[in-house]
Amino acid sequence: MTDTPARYGGDPIRTEVLGYGGQSITERDKKAAAEALEGDYITRGPTVEAFEERVADVVGVEHAIATTSGTTALHLAGRAAGFDEGDEVITTPLTFASTAHTATYTGADPVFADIERERRTLDPEAVREQITEDTAGLLPMHYGGHPANIKGLLDVADDHDLTVIWDACHGFGGTWNGERLGAQRDMSIFSFHPVKNITTGEGGMVVTDDDDTAERLRRLRSFDMDYDPDGHEDEPWYQVVQGKGYNYNVTDMQAALGLAQLDRLDEFKNRRDEIIYHYDNALADVPGLRTPPTAENSDPFYHLYAVEIRDGFGCDRTEFVNAMHDENIGVQVHYVPLHHHPFFQDKYGYEKGDFPVSEDVYDGLVSLPLFPEMDETDVRNVVEAVKRIRQYHKQ
Ligand SMILES: Cc1ncc(COP(=O)(O)O)c(C=O)c1O
Repeated sequence: MTDTPARYGGDPIRTEVLGYGGQSITERDKKAAAEALEGDYITRGPTVEAFEERVADVVGVEHAIATTSGTTALHLAGRAAGFDEGDEVITTPLTFASTAHTATYTGADPVFADIERERRTLDPEAVREQITEDTAGLLPMHYGGHPANIKGLLDVADDHDLTVIWDACHGFGGTWNGERLGAQRDMSIFSFHPVKNITTGEGGMVVTDDDDTAERLRRLRSFDMDYDPDGHEDEPWYQVVQGKGYNYNVTDMQAALGLAQLDRLDEFKNRRDEIIYHYDNALADVPGLRTPPTAENSDPFYHLYAVEIRDGFGCDRTEFVNAMHDENIGVQVHYVPLHHHPFFQDKYGYEKGDFPVSEDVYDGLVSLPLFPEMDETDVRNVVEAVKRIRQYHKQ
């Protein structure tokens, strides 16, 4: 094999495509999901309740409410927070669209504030500048599993009496300051999509310590229905719709898979940590490549390994991504900033250039493959490909 990258005439480093993320499913995981099919419930039943209790226990909170995805979990949280038309909810532009939809789904306006360069998460000082009398809440996101500036953001929320919904979709299983990520007030959201830290196929969870909020979330998840209304004790069929609820019920099959995946939480974290350790060591000295930030006082469960291709690498991010793909290595960019999307531009008046720090970070961002099923050859191939592309462009 020559040192010429595949994009410029060489042979690819590998013949089989390596994805950037993916699930890990064992025979035991499959058996757990299949056994749930033998139960009395194949919709939301006792296994969902058991899964919720285990998640609440892992996170160290009073309540966990399972939903069909991280997106629907965010929707329920926005409703439970009482966001409504005329409200403004402040969030980061460097996130997946669903974070901002926590506001849009309720009729509230998403208001973007720029990020901190190092953490790549919502900057408390930028948040302060966006606060108006209509601000109702904050939606920080723990980018890649790296904890946001939790203390700084809670201080802002305290000063202005704001609800905080943490989008922790990337960070299930991590810790911050001796607490689990997700244990912070008022609510946190997890996603169990296949590329996330554990999976149920599709799935999500809202966690909270507040009893009334939990009750509201459970009702909204299931049609906003009171199944046992006062005054109808002798009419067992009588159910009462209280408001505009949803069917975001998950199934016992998904929950059974979730429970089996929870048994493997340490295994998943250890494997991701090993890969990150390897990447950090191998890539630290590559000129023009910035490795991800290290979190202080934390033991994050990283979902992404997002590097930045900066000046000095020899080519730009776009060229790098295409060159990696030609080596048969899947890389991804998380994310095109939300204020670059037509929806947020047309409806809320945002424009490219509004959030310079987010844009500067975005310009270099690339997520390298990171998932527990990667073997040593996969990890080595990624490093070799990065170095090969850098070497070529150096000339
Ligand atoms: C930061 C963030 N928030 C929310 C979501 C939505 O989660 P789901 O795909 O489970 O709906 C995702 C998923 O990609 C995400 O990355």
